Amino acid sequence: MITTDEFESKRFIITGASSGIGRKIAIDLAAKGSSVLALGRNQDKLQSLKILYPEKIEIEAFDILDFSQLKLVVEKFSEKAKLDGCVHAAGINKFTPLRALNWNVFEKIMKTNLYSGIELIRLCASNKISNSGSSIVMISSVAGIKGEMGFTAYASSKGALISAVKCLALELSNSKIRVNSISPGVVETELTKSMESFYPDGIESVVKKHPGGIGNVDDISNLVQFLLSNKSRWITGSNYIIDGGYTI
Ligand SMILES: NC(=O)c1ccc[n+]([C@@H]2O[C@H](COP(=O)([O-])OP(=O)(O)OC[C@H]3O[C@@H](n4cnc5c(N)ncnc54)[C@H](OP(=O)(O)O)[C@@H]3O)[C@@H](O)[C@H]2O)c1
Repeated sequence: MITTDEFESKRFIITGASSGIGRKIAIDLAAKGSSVLALGRNQDKLQSLKILYPEKIEIEAFDILDFSQLKLVVEKFSEKAKLDGCVHAAGINKFTPLRALNWNVFEKIMKTNLYSGIELIRLCASNKISNSGSSIVMISSVAGIKGEMGFTAYASSKGALISAVKCLALELSNSKIRVNSISPGVVETELTKSMESFYPDGIESVVKKHPGGIGNVDDISNLVQFLLSNKSRWITGSNYIIDGGYTI
């Protein structure tokens, strides 16, 4: 069991914290006594998160593709005390069937889901920024493992994220920083709502493919908390599928 003690006075950076999965992780960590730097673009949504735990949650609203800004905020947050980990939950999906392939859209998905996650890891990789024993979690997707029509860009970004994590976990092992990814199936969030039109037979057809039903943000936050905690100290370079049985 992950107790409150695990997270008391720890420090984490969460991307995509203005909504859905990232927001829930930020709330749960702050509730357990961690200081959280919550990143996203939507200032109002971030503000509504901050008021829940004003002492524990700091917010910064900017586009994560602005890597110089990302560097500034990571350095500023870690000046007060080193990090104990970070979570990359920022992500987008657009329907990208081959017949309508648009490289600008493809590139934006790759940059948001993959490049910015790797950049976050790069910025947190040194023991000047992160404590020994830190843990980094990338939110990938079952789309990175199993095919769905029209998901080429999203699946490419998420599959690459799983592969990158394995290499980076090796590179960061000397610094005693663990790196893992998780691959959720369908979880009820804003992103899922925006994807309803992607499925010709309706989103119900995808929901039916999850024997355990679709997930919620608590399911994902619980697994992420385990991976951020010292309870998972022997786990690095792994990808955890959490999908109600979708991929079986
Ligand atoms: N929901 C699912 O079924 C599901 C399944 C598997 C994997 N995932 C993955 O889980 C992660 C979280 O998804 P979610 O369902 O919670 O989605 P969501 O509710 O749409 O949240 C996405 C988050 O990403 C942020 N974001 C997107 N582009 C950004 C950018 N350029 N700069 C800064 N922030 C940006 C958004 O910030 P703003 O709103 O402030 O712009 C928002 O906080 C994503 O990586 C997604 O691919 C989700």
